[in-house]
Amino acid sequence: MAVISVALEGRPYEVHVGTGLLDKAGVIATPFLRKKVIPVVADVNARRLHGDRLAGSLMKAGHEIAWFEVPSGEPSKSWDNLRKLTDWMLSLGVERGDHVLAFGGGVVGDLTGFASAILKRGCGFIQLPTTLLAQVDSSVGGKTAINSAAGKNLIGAFHQPSLVLADISCLETLPPRELRAGYAEVLKYGVLGDAQFFDWLDEHGDAVLRLDVQAAQQAVAHSVAAKAAIVARDEKETAGARALLNLGHTFGHALEAETGFSDRLLHGEAVALGMVLAARYSARRGFLPNEAAHRLTRTTDKAGLPAEVSALGLTCDGEGLVEHMLHDKKMDGGTLPFILLRDIGNAFVTKDVELSDVARFLDEQLQAH
Ligand code: GLY
Repeated sequence: MAVISVALEGRPYEVHVGTGLLDKAGVIATPFLRKKVIPVVADVNARRLHGDRLAGSLMKAGHEIAWFEVPSGEPSKSWDNLRKLTDWMLSLGVERGDHVLAFGGGVVGDLTGFASAILKRGCGFIQLPTTLLAQVDSSVGGKTAINSAAGKNLIGAFHQPSLVLADISCLETLPPRELRAGYAEVLKYGVLGDAQFFDWLDEHGDAVLRLDVQAAQQAVAHSVAAKAAIVARDEKETAGARALLNLGHTFGHALEAETGFSDRLLHGEAVALGMVLAARYSARRGFLPNEAAHRLTRTTDKAGLPAEVSALGLTCDGEGLVEHMLHDKKMDGGTLPFILLRDIGNAFVTKDVELSDVARFLDEQLQAH
């Protein structure tokens, strides 16, 4: 097992990564659990597949669970569900010093985190992420949100969890496509700042995706450590460091918007393709050697992730995709920061990007092959 500290001044917290952590949750979380009844907000599938293990370990520690089930999928991050969840938390008498458990993927974590941020001006929460994407990204770092009619994650708050328990045995029940989509975020840490990790993934990516215990644990722990270091430097994305985590997200967001945030393209798949596009655009601008962009394309393809936008069968043009980018919540004073690459392992933020040039580049990509 690995324990990584998110070293926020005055309020550090731990992320535990390992197998069997759900069976130990009652013991590990004891310092945070003051009452007999523990509110657990659970993705329906997470509860069905792994709920007994969590309930067993909490019961052994003398607790009972009150469950609040959330259907899988982005529509659950709604005002309506937020209202129901906060009403439920109030009905249970949750106080500021109490902790609510978020048990599932990013949807449950984001919704529970935001409810905890606003309940009585902030109560505690603990993340029990069960998907690869949630374990390596959304459960760590305190970004919480719901969606609005105007877009994804537009209503939210920074609110850090008090503890994260990432049990990698939960990954065994993930659909393979979802596992691969989460793996895109693992690759991202190598591409944005750690060439050695990227090399390691090139060699051991198959083992990670086969869920070889040691390889999977190493990949998750390394990713969490990378994220923890960035969050500790720039908790609220004001100093530039955290923005690097958006590598692949600007291109990816446009593709997700064009495909209607649907099963046609999962978030992680959009990030993978977005990173390839960011690399190719960096090469076009002369920042990145072409060979590095080719290498990222090969690695992405080998992981079973989409690497060619032309294969998506989109009917829009480059300008249509750029139009989606203008609604990105990272728009700042009329310009959009892009995360580009100087090398694999060396990303940087720039606003020196003409959107008309991006549209021309995307036209070429849409027509390639
Ligand atoms: N997922 C990007 C971040 O946490 O900043």
